Amino acid sequence: MSNNDLQQALRAIGFKGSVRRNVPMHTMTSFRIGGPARYLLFPADRTDMHRLLTLFEARGLSCRMLGNWTNLLVADEGVPYPLIRLTRGFVELRRDTTMVQAEAGAPLHALLRFCAREGLSGLEPLAGIPGTVGGSIRMNAGSWGTEVADVLSSVNVITPSGEATTMQRHEINATYRDIGLSHRHIILWGMFSLRPADPAAIRRSLREFHHRKRNTQPLTLPSPGCIFKNPPGTSAGKLIDEAGGKGLRKGDAMVCPLHANFIVNAGAAQARDVMDLIDTIRDRVFRVHGITLELEVEILT
Ligand code: EPU
Repeated sequence: MSNNDLQQALRAIGFKGSVRRNVPMHTMTSFRIGGPARYLLFPADRTDMHRLLTLFEARGLSCRMLGNWTNLLVADEGVPYPLIRLTRGFVELRRDTTMVQAEAGAPLHALLRFCAREGLSGLEPLAGIPGTVGGSIRMNAGSWGTEVADVLSSVNVITPSGEATTMQRHEINATYRDIGLSHRHIILWGMFSLRPADPAAIRRSLREFHHRKRNTQPLTLPSPGCIFKNPPGTSAGKLIDEAGGKGLRKGDAMVCPLHANFIVNAGAAQARDVMDLIDTIRDRVFRVHGITLELEVEILT
């Protein structure tokens, strides 16, 4: 679809959100890598979101919903299809007894702060995970033995057929780093079931978990988070470390000396450098341990 065609189609559906064109993704992603996204669309509200999906469905166009540009490796050539991001209009956090309803565009850290203020405990181990509520639900983000699915009680989505529906936790087949909803399900909000606790104790716990993460992971360097999923019963970082992976480099992409399951961008790394490094790491780990590592990071081409 040409720029003019999309512009016209958006006008025709009364799209109220904003559109950005040819945005260099290295300015957006937590990895600071990626070529131009042809269109970034920021719907203003649910009606906008519905209309967009109906438009893409009717025209047979693909699009992708993204969280906070974390956990992503965007190709150097960029992305030709529209990327959708929920921001203002999708950030409300609301308490109802010991439940918190969090809209998908809210930053995860805002949800953690809100819960601390409200004296609701359960999400503290997720402190320091970047990204949005929607992104962390989709990938069933986790840390220190707790994952989103442990405290999620329901999730509101727009289904691929355009219907808005609330799915209860038992209807969702969550597994490690995957909430079990396809990318064609658009997550609008999640309901979290928490426990009452002292706000000061929650804040203390948030600080401790964050501190632990800072001491073991490169939180201040550009990276997408862990590159590989942990194979059952072991840690990908440990396997890479034991295979002598720390410090391996291709261009400006480097296996982090602090934690081997992170590739960091030490300057102006390109996506193809990262892909090469991923292949090298996989080969090494397979040679040493006989295990094939599976990617956790999502590749957008
Ligand atoms: N280890 C090494 N060398 C390394 C890294 C780790 O020997 O370079 C050892 C550690 O000493 C420890 C074990 O491996 O004995 C496990 O390490 P860690 O506690 O750092 O946990 P992990 O399994 O490497 C997982 C998650 C992280 C999460 C942490 C903390 C995955 C792929 N990674 O890492 O999640 O923050 O546990 O709970 O599931 C992410 O998913 O993006 C992520 C960062």
